[in-house]
Amino acid sequence: MADLSTEIAGLHLDSPLIAAAGTAGYGIELASVDRLRGLGAVVTKSITLEARSGNPPMRVTDLESGMLNAVGLANVGLDAFVTDVAMHVRDLPIPAIPSIAGESIGEYEQVAAAMQSMAFVKAVEVNVSCPNTDDGRAYAESPEQLRTLLVDLRRVLKSVAMIVKLPLDFARPSVAADVAIESGADALTLINTVPAMSIDVSTRKSRIGRWSGGASGPGIHPLAVRMVADVYRDLAEPAGVPIIGLGGVMRWQDAAEFILAGASAVGLGTALFVDPRRPRKVLRGLRKWVRRQGCQSIEELVGTAEPS
Ligand SMILES: Cc1cc2nc3c(=O)[nH]c(=O)nc-3n(C[C@H](O)[C@H](O)[C@H](O)COP(=O)(O)O)c2cc1C
Repeated sequence: MADLSTEIAGLHLDSPLIAAAGTAGYGIELASVDRLRGLGAVVTKSITLEARSGNPPMRVTDLESGMLNAVGLANVGLDAFVTDVAMHVRDLPIPAIPSIAGESIGEYEQVAAAMQSMAFVKAVEVNVSCPNTDDGRAYAESPEQLRTLLVDLRRVLKSVAMIVKLPLDFARPSVAADVAIESGADALTLINTVPAMSIDVSTRKSRIGRWSGGASGPGIHPLAVRMVADVYRDLAEPAGVPIIGLGGVMRWQDAAEFILAGASAVGLGTALFVDPRRPRKVLRGLRKWVRRQGCQSIEELVGTAEPS
């Protein structure tokens, strides 16, 4: 059997598939459906210092090309996470990676310090790329602010790996990816949802509770593959920083594309809403594909895409 295990930021994952932030609750919810089979790790919804009730409804709607959401980082907040949720997350059968977010460097720092103090947390994903809050993307859009934030978090996260989740970036080389790597990121997650809008033509109103939100699903997949491929070649591969490719993976072929583009692991988000058992199916397809490519392990295929 082909070896599909992978290493990301010091974590050994039995499967290269990861449940994306915000699409599997705290991991516990998805575990109740399919015991997380097929997945190598789960990223929790983003945790902030204070509890957040999120945006008004509708928070999620369907698109021809996937989903549009404006959840607005609804979460229980750090205290409730530590006292009520963390013990269940710790007991999941696969590694859990808490996602952290904040409105100021101080907030990110406090959440990161709490994660550092919990022995089961080996890595966090720093969300600097949420399009559904007023300031969610501020850090990723200012290289100076991003550097200040990440250098600070690097100091707080003494023994915990720092995975940085970035938005779609049309610049080449990606300035945000460059800053993240220089600031000590142990891995990059590319990409978050893409700012988008959908209008109900009868009511002439936005179809979600905010003016605009974030698109996910198949429509963003080629955009994410391009960014992974370019960041891998320009920055991540030379620096030895692994990438988690994320955006529109519905089938094993989509995951395989990310691997060829340079991802060492692949996230699934929207696919989990369509079918929570999808990771198992994607994993099965990947295993056969690795064998058909004449390889023993999926790692041999990372970043091997060529121009036609
Ligand atoms: C309903 C919903 C909630 C999300 N919540 C978060 C979140 O809390 N933090 C985060 O970093 N990304 C969040 N995301 C973004 C996903 O993790 C992922 O980056 C995005 O959906 C693209 O992947 P996909 O096309 O496979 O869904 C959310 C996405 C959706 C659809």
